[in-house]
Amino acid sequence: MSIPKNRPPLSRHAKGHYFDPLPAVPSKPRTVFLHAGEVSLELQADRGVFGSRGIDLGTLQLLNEAPKPPEQGDILDLGAGYGPIAIALARRAPKARIWAVDVNERALELTRANAEAAKTPNVTAALPDEVPPGTRFAAIYSNPPVRVGKAPLHELLVKWLPRLDEGASAYLVVQRNLGSDSLAEWLKTQGYDVKRLKSKKGYRILEVNSHR
Ligand SMILES: C[S@@+](CC[C@H](N)C(=O)[O-])C[C@H]1O[C@@H](n2cnc3c(N)ncnc32)[C@H](O)[C@@H]1O
Repeated sequence: MSIPKNRPPLSRHAKGHYFDPLPAVPSKPRTVFLHAGEVSLELQADRGVFGSRGIDLGTLQLLNEAPKPPEQGDILDLGAGYGPIAIALARRAPKARIWAVDVNERALELTRANAEAAKTPNVTAALPDEVPPGTRFAAIYSNPPVRVGKAPLHELLVKWLPRLDEGASAYLVVQRNLGSDSLAEWLKTQGYDVKRLKSKKGYRILEVNSHR
C-alpha cells in the first residue's frame, strides 16, 4: 500500500500525549543542552516525549533551586522523560542510585542512552512496576505530569510519596497557572507538610515532607 502524497498533518489527537506509553508520532531525535549550576549535559530528546524542543523551564528551576540530593541511597525522579533531572542528580550524587521512572517507553530508551553518554551508571530507567516494591527513597524530585489531570496526578503522588524514608522530602516543580497552589493545599489534606521553597518565573517549587 502506498503512502498518500498529500497526507493531511496529524491532528492534535493523533499526535497523542507525552505520557502515552508508545508515542504515535514518528521519532525525530534532537540534541538539547542542559546547564544547571555545575552540571552541563548534552542530551538526546525526541518527539512524543516531554520537553522535546529543549529543557523545560520548570525542570531548570527545580535543578537550580531545590536542595542538593542526599549523597547515598535510592532517589526517585518521578516522570523522568528523557532524563534531565535524573542524570543531573546522578552527577551530583554519584554514590546514590537514581530511579528514572516513566510510563513512556520512548522516554525510558532515551534516558538509558543519555545516562550512558553522560557516564552516569547510577541511573536506572524503569517503568513504575519495575521498581522493587520494597524500595524506599532518600528523596524524590519531580516535574510531575500535571496534564494527566487532577485525579490521575493525585493517584500518582499517593502511590509514590508514602515511599519516602522517614524524614525525607520530595521536591516538586509545578507551574503556578497549572495548579501549584491547589496541589499544595491538597497535599496538606493528605497529612503532608508542604513548604513553598521558591516561586520564580511562574513556577513554584514545593518541598513535601514525609512527616505525617
Ligand atoms: C512534565 S514531564 C517531565 C519530564 C522530565 N522529568 C523533564 O523534566 O523534562 C512528566 C513526565 O511524567 C511521565 N508520566 C506520566 N504519567 C506517569 C506515571 N503514571 N508514572 C510515571 N511517569 C509518568 C510523562 O510521561 C512525562 O515524561
